[in-house]
Amino acid sequence: MKVAVINGSPKGREGNTAVMVDSFLKGAADAGAETAHIFLAEKEIRHCRGCFSCWLVTPGQCVIKDDDMADVLARAEGADILALATPLKYANISSMLKVFIERLLVFANPYILKDRAGETRHPKKTAEAESSMYRAKLVLIANGGLGQMGHFQVVSHWIRRLALNNLTEVIAEIRCPQGVLLTNPAEELQPVIDNYRRLLERAGREIVTGNRMGKETETRLEENLIPEDVYLQQINGFFDSFLDNLSHPYVKAWT
Ligand SMILES: Cc1cc2nc3c(=O)[nH]c(=O)nc-3n(C[C@H](O)[C@H](O)[C@H](O)COP(=O)(O)O)c2cc1C
Repeated sequence: MKVAVINGSPKGREGNTAVMVDSFLKGAADAGAETAHIFLAEKEIRHCRGCFSCWLVTPGQCVIKDDDMADVLARAEGADILALATPLKYANISSMLKVFIERLLVFANPYILKDRAGETRHPKKTAEAESSMYRAKLVLIANGGLGQMGHFQVVSHWIRRLALNNLTEVIAEIRCPQGVLLTNPAEELQPVIDNYRRLLERAGREIVTGNRMGKETETRLEENLIPEDVYLQQINGFFDSFLDNLSHPYVKAWT
């Protein structure tokens, strides 16, 4: 069993996303999985040009050779579970992760057929030719700073549609709306973060052993790290500590 994570945070190893992924993969490794944590922030991945050469001229080969895509794919090769990890960026996945995903076109079968429900999609390739980038089951690992679950609405829809189109399934979504608390927490918050990290490890273990998170793990991972009002007070207090000494146009009320 191999679990590969594509980390789409521009902050790479220093990011809040990395805290979540590290714990998740620790659990997966404890359960015996081979793991790979791949930081897009450390790679140069060019945009898909949309030339369709990978379908029509050199099937299965991308024309872009002068970037790190091959290296990322080699590290993720053979993954049974592919986790896509991202900070929320304007209510969506990060642009880094999106650029990576678009380059997966090279693995798709170009033909468009109607499935049993009458919906159009690219069919699978032969079992031998199907890339693990398409075959792998998907996990979403996402965090944001706005403090509420509603902000994950778009990314949750997105990963489900991605799985549907790629003929795979989403086996877990792990979402932390108070993600900015994860790196360098205040001393009194450390036990809360340690507890959350243990839950993430448990999620990783459960997914490797049972292909799913347990119900209790899932429920507990959706709980706030700290009460919503306390979170808002802390975050806004943090902004005050910078802004009180500066002239600025920001108001702290609905106008
Ligand atoms: C440009 C930008 C846009 C963001 N948009 C959102 C957003 O729409 N919703 C949200 O909850 N957080 C948003 N955030 C906050 C990040 O998701 C949050 O800081 C996250 O912890 C960053 O993860 P990282 O440290 O791994 O990069 C945004 C941050 C930036 C820099």
